[in-house]
Amino acid sequence: MIEFKNVSKKYKNGTHALENVSLKVEDGEFVYIMGPTGSGKSTLIKLLDGEEVPTGGSVIVNNVNVGRLRKSKVYLYRRKIGVVFQDYRLLPEKTVFENVAYALEVLDMPNDKIKKRVRDVLKLVDLADKSNAKPRELSGGQQQRVAIARAIAKRPAILIADEPTGNLDPSMTDEMIKLLEKINIEEKTTLLVVTHNDVMVEYHPKRTIRIESGHIVTDERGFKSFYEMRNEKKEEVKEEIKEEVKAEPKEEAKPEEVKTEEVKAEETVKPVEKEPLIYTEPILDDTSTIQIKLPSYMNTAPVFEEKIPTESEAQDMAIDEITQQLDAIKELREGDRE
Ligand SMILES: Nc1ncnc2c1ncn2[C@@H]1O[C@H](COP(=O)(O)OP(=O)(O)OP(=O)(O)O)[C@@H](O)[C@H]1O
Ligand SMILES: [Mg+2]
Repeated sequence: MIEFKNVSKKYKNGTHALENVSLKVEDGEFVYIMGPTGSGKSTLIKLLDGEEVPTGGSVIVNNVNVGRLRKSKVYLYRRKIGVVFQDYRLLPEKTVFENVAYALEVLDMPNDKIKKRVRDVLKLVDLADKSNAKPRELSGGQQQRVAIARAIAKRPAILIADEPTGNLDPSMTDEMIKLLEKINIEEKTTLLVVTHNDVMVEYHPKRTIRIESGHIVTDERGFKSFYEMRNEKKEEVKEEIKEEVKAEPKEEAKPEEVKTEEVKAEETVKPVEKEPLIYTEPILDDTSTIQIKLPSYMNTAPVFEEKIPTESEAQDMAIDEITQQLDAIKELREGDRE
């Protein structure tokens, strides 16, 4: 954790760069520091990495009182902090790989571990294919990423970047901020990013501390951290589930029905098993009948037959019918004449 307790910094020439500044930054936070030129941003960073000593108050970083460190101990303390300077400060005669490795060699790290870590961070900043290039062979944005790789190689608890997007075009600016977000999440590094870039702050909102004339004027959480959002979501879901359980209707006890004798009697009658209707195909010969077997619950004889007339019988029936109709017509005509 970073804590500034009533910190003031008055330079020897009498400039009050910071006055009575208090702030806390928790582990894993991502904070922007904004403010006009000359407001005290770089001074704040210099107090953090032990380059300058406060003239009032105290700067505490992970329980270390930075202003009280002996000069001979400052370099040990700085191993925990990575700083990306605006002017990159890369070694021009060394390759990208060597520039990053150099930051680890001074830590007396074994060679094989250095190589692995350098490869990993160059991958993280998307420069694996530029390992053997010299800084002058790289674009501004690429050089800046080498500076970031170098700063994070030693796995600092805190990464401070002074204007990391100062020389980048808008699309590179976006890439840079995404890279810093990735470092914040994947390497669990606390980030302090000094910037003038309002667009970046708007598109990637985070806690923003604004400084003017050595004073903190605002300290706003532009948005909630990933962890805060996740926890809030969890709570929200929990509440929703609680509400749903409450809202679920309980099985209401139905009042005992008063049954009439009729209803009771009906209920005691066993439901009839439905038998299918059986329809036998009529056999068309002289004696043909249609047999329809009726289910037993239809209170009739189980089988009834209907005789189908044979062809000759049908002709006779038809002649009879026509004769009857003709007779009827005759009768009608006779009646008319009368
Ligand atoms: N070493 C120094 N000696 C005297 N005065 C200094 C020194 N460093 C900075 N200052 C003054 O302290 C004030 C704050 O400077 P600082 O570098 O912290 O500003 P800044 O917010 O980083 O500005 P910029 O956005 O231009 O980088 C300025 O008035 C500056 O002139
Ligand atoms: Mg500055």
